[in-house]
Amino acid sequence: MRISPFEKTSKVLKGKLVTLLFFEPSSRTFSSFAAAVKKLGGMTIEYQNPTQTSSSIKGETLEDTMRVFENYSDAVIMRHFEKGTLQRAANAVSIPVINAGDGIGEHPTQALLDAYTIYKKTKSLSGLTGLMVGDLLNGRTVHSLLKLFSLYKNNTIYLLSPKQLKLEDAFKKEIEKRGVRLIEIASQKDIPVTTDFWYWTRVQKERFTDIKEYERLKNIFVVTPELLKEKGNKKMILMHPLPRVGDIDVRVDADSRSVYLSDQVKNGLYIRMALLSMILG
Ligand code: NCD
Repeated sequence: MRISPFEKTSKVLKGKLVTLLFFEPSSRTFSSFAAAVKKLGGMTIEYQNPTQTSSSIKGETLEDTMRVFENYSDAVIMRHFEKGTLQRAANAVSIPVINAGDGIGEHPTQALLDAYTIYKKTKSLSGLTGLMVGDLLNGRTVHSLLKLFSLYKNNTIYLLSPKQLKLEDAFKKEIEKRGVRLIEIASQKDIPVTTDFWYWTRVQKERFTDIKEYERLKNIFVVTPELLKEKGNKKMILMHPLPRVGDIDVRVDADSRSVYLSDQVKNGLYIRMALLSMILG
């Protein structure tokens, strides 16, 4: 299905108003949610950086902000820089609150679109071998995708990160307990050639207090055509939640296995439309 901006919009969300409240920068997630609401015939109130443009600069509590928006809107889609804030926001109101990223915590709708992208290729979410690379400690997309994989059987995920940015131990154990085989590797040389997907991520600069440490750790692992040739295979796909910041060489973009600027982005719109239809339609 190709949805062009010029096609007629659906009426599924006709008369519904959805508030987008993003306390942290976003381009794709914000615009794909806004596009999804509008393509379904709904309306939006859109707040980016509310700490600079709204009452929260005057010291309003999150709970009060949420209660105010509850009076106007049918749902709130929210991103926040602090892990756990989304749960607090959801507890404050009785309308649906969709997590669009909470600090280093989770990013569940990204996991849905990532899993859908993988599923379209493999026709299953069980029995897969994947590779996740980059900032596994701070990358919320990685956390949510691993949780999603733990709902399925017989998956093996290879984890590659600088040792300072490894998956948190308690989280790793929880995922393993739920049945995902996690294998930590230390070098690009150890990437197996049998993977179904590579999920590359950037080192999350905004989570560092020491910028020199960030500079040391960024782009230790980079996808190049040479690496793909050596460690890739014909059936795999190469994914990235974006933004990439030097961690995928642009020469790889033309490779038909690269889906980060095509299928993954499109699926983000479709998955969010589907989710909104289920919740509000
Ligand atoms: C991700 C995020 O915000 O967590 N981006 C996104 O939503 N597409 C990944 C990232 O910022 O690295």
